[in-house]
Amino acid sequence: MDKMLIRGGRPLMGTIQVRGAKNSTLPLMAASILAEEPCVLHNVPCLHDTFAMDKVLASLGMTIDFTGRYMTLDASTIASQTAPYDLVRKMRASFFVLGPLLGRFGRARVSLPGGCAIGTRPVDIHLKGLEALGASLRIEEGYVIADGRLTGADFALDFPSVGATENLMMAAVRAEGVTRLSNVAREPEIADLAAFLNGIGGRISGAGTDLITIVGVDALGGGEHTIIGDRIEAGTFLIAGVATHGDVTVQGVNPEHLPAFLPKLREAGAEVETQGNWIRARAINGFKGLDVATRPFPGFPTDLQAQMMAMLCVADGVSVIRENVFENRFMQVAELARMGADISLDGNAAVVRGVSALSGAPVMASDLRASAALVIAGLVAEKGETAVARVYHIDRGYERIEERLAALGADIRRVQQA
Ligand code: EPZ
Repeated sequence: MDKMLIRGGRPLMGTIQVRGAKNSTLPLMAASILAEEPCVLHNVPCLHDTFAMDKVLASLGMTIDFTGRYMTLDASTIASQTAPYDLVRKMRASFFVLGPLLGRFGRARVSLPGGCAIGTRPVDIHLKGLEALGASLRIEEGYVIADGRLTGADFALDFPSVGATENLMMAAVRAEGVTRLSNVAREPEIADLAAFLNGIGGRISGAGTDLITIVGVDALGGGEHTIIGDRIEAGTFLIAGVATHGDVTVQGVNPEHLPAFLPKLREAGAEVETQGNWIRARAINGFKGLDVATRPFPGFPTDLQAQMMAMLCVADGVSVIRENVFENRFMQVAELARMGADISLDGNAAVVRGVSALSGAPVMASDLRASAALVIAGLVAEKGETAVARVYHIDRGYERIEERLAALGADIRRVQQA
């Protein structure tokens, strides 16, 4: 397993190109199951998770060609509707194949994804929604076995789950009649998926609001789609710039996709400038502590919570971070404390008292965004070297992060670990 070695204390300066959104790419790849003609995706990020989804779709029999940032997907060769445990357990987003398989073929056998580091992550809303659409479901040997011709229905989600909204949209697009999903997720990735589905013949309206209406159609054709920029990757690099008292511009992202995050950077004292598809953040004179509470979109993104915590470890003052989306998303705290951070936990709240400096240490990544937080802490640490182990977590969601951070002036390198 590789390690990342970082010597911090250098301000990050410069411009970085944001890749296609991981959390759009994965549902879009699953949605191509519905297309009866080949589909083309542009701006596809080269991530471990992209390849993991490729494997799941290939196990169904799909033909996929992924070259550079361009992916063609042909679902006409699908021969199986079973997504095996061994693949689904490695990446829970594999569960997104359930809705499209059921919608198109009327049957699916998909392993339950199981929990992960940040929580038990149940799929009860996905399953309740599919039953509302007329599917008959049973759980056997850890698999969801679903079948039935879907019919449109009204369904209110108990929680605006991103994955459940996406799975249900992909099922309902082939249901007979009209489906109205309420209390749905409003993340930009939902609108990106709806745009793709409409581009191949779907009839979806309301994506991005809390009510999505889907008029079922008999078949979906092929089409092309360019994936939106990754707002979480953009936020991660902007935080790294501010945390190191630098000046970083991220290109290829829509500033409107970060409606709660950018005001928080400004509240901390960073100068933030935005245009059509770029954002610049400067904090040459440092920044102060502030309170953050994660919420479903348009609230502060839970996927930027750990990275923000790493920055606030060296803020001027005290910060309170409340994690309201997942039940166990403070895995980075113990590792940050080993670098000299002063953080105390009280349920879903973390009180972060800014310290004058962090110091490098060997630390362990536990999940994707916690590992990004540890890299940021390493970039901030003024003394010593930080060695982040288990960087396969970070490769799931960030493309060659060490090369791109080094281009901003970071002293960071990857070493192969025996
Ligand atoms: C998506 O996960 C993202 N992943 C996550 O990003 C992101 O953190 C999350 O949405 C929230 O924004 C992808 O899009 C591939 P949820 P998802 O269903 O869909 C509970 C990253 O780092 N819930 O919105 O799994 C659940 O337990 C990843 O890029 C139920 O109770 O998230 C959680 O507490 C991490 N029952 C909350 O809802 C359900 O049936 C939000 O989960 C479904 C969810």
